[in-house]
Amino acid sequence: MEALLCQKIGDPTLPLDDSPSSPFTLTATHPIPELNSPTSVRVRVRATSLNYANYLQILGKYQEKPPLPFIPGSDYSGVVDSVGSGVTKFKAGDAVCSLASLGSFAQFIVADEAQLFRVPEGCDLVAAGALPVAYGTSHLALLHRAQLQPNQVLLVLGAAGGVGLAAVQIGKACGAIVIAVARGDDKVQLLKTLGVDHVVDLSKGNVTESVKGFLQARKLKGADVLYDPVGGKVTKEAMKLLNWGAHILVIGFASGDVPVIPANIALVKNWTVHGLYWGSYMIHRPVVLQNSLKELLSWLASGLITINISHAFSLSEANLAFSALKDRKAIGKVMIVFDDQKTFRSKL
Ligand SMILES: NC(=O)c1ccc[n+]([C@@H]2O[C@H](COP(=O)([O-])OP(=O)(O)OC[C@H]3O[C@@H](n4cnc5c(N)ncnc54)[C@H](OP(=O)(O)O)[C@@H]3O)[C@@H](O)[C@H]2O)c1
Repeated sequence: MEALLCQKIGDPTLPLDDSPSSPFTLTATHPIPELNSPTSVRVRVRATSLNYANYLQILGKYQEKPPLPFIPGSDYSGVVDSVGSGVTKFKAGDAVCSLASLGSFAQFIVADEAQLFRVPEGCDLVAAGALPVAYGTSHLALLHRAQLQPNQVLLVLGAAGGVGLAAVQIGKACGAIVIAVARGDDKVQLLKTLGVDHVVDLSKGNVTESVKGFLQARKLKGADVLYDPVGGKVTKEAMKLLNWGAHILVIGFASGDVPVIPANIALVKNWTVHGLYWGSYMIHRPVVLQNSLKELLSWLASGLITINISHAFSLSEANLAFSALKDRKAIGKVMIVFDDQKTFRSKL
């Protein structure tokens, strides 16, 4: 089967061909994975998403460092190819999506049936492959951890990125007043089409001033929930905008800078700081994660959320996919699509 192997730690944006520096080898002859237990299911992958964590992992900068060589990739969608003798929930031909710790940058992947989610009829299969990590993280963070309520003010940093755009959409679906922070016209335009209440374009202005103006105009005191996948300077500014009793969701550090949240101010303002590592819910609270993904898939099926895929590539173009992420060109999700990727791209 076709698979992308990470042979060494390195820069995933380097061209795959003829570059001895590329960490990747693309192979068409990797063995198809065998069913490894009675409850295992083999899935023919249709689409797999890029997350910032995949980029960091290949650079050797992620908390989970798998032994080399490995096939990267985490969330994916596809069609059931074969099932073990003890599988009760799925049969060949079923549309599914899932998350793995590794291995979805390949034509086939094997998972236990307990880790698979049925993609409801009418859902786009490529979109379903974009959903688990980005939407799963934001849904669990906003609803389970911060308990976001209608009419609360939600401030989203990195709002046009994978997890950020998911947080914006989930916030709107929950009836929150959403303030989005992103950089550049294209991102701002897309956010406005989603009905965001206020957008700050970082290339034009300062977060604090822009948001204070909006809050004043709407007679609002401040933000009740801060969703932060970026860190660094922008977090420092955002903290000046938080209400008494606010929730801070620490999601990631795309800026490369881990922010300091002063405990003395958290005390005085009664803030709750949530560190969230979504993937670890699969080990510690699997039911919470599973219920959250089921709800999201039903939202996708009913059109309550839609998934913006700004870039789609074939596996042989994986370096271009990583470049889109690294260069901050992604608006929503970047995908690797198998089979009729050309047809898919022509629809974008
Ligand atoms: N805690 C968890 O369980 C969990 C789950 C998923 C993701 N994450 C983390 O969340 C963060 C975002 O992930 P993602 O997949 O949404 O990434 P993404 O699609 O690349 O989005 C990241 C956003 O961060 C902003 N950004 C600011 N400074 C940046 C920089 N120096 N380089 C790149 N982007 C920068 C960019 O927005 P502008 O260009 O508009 O400023 C970009 O849209 C990552 O740190 C990731 O590890 C955590």
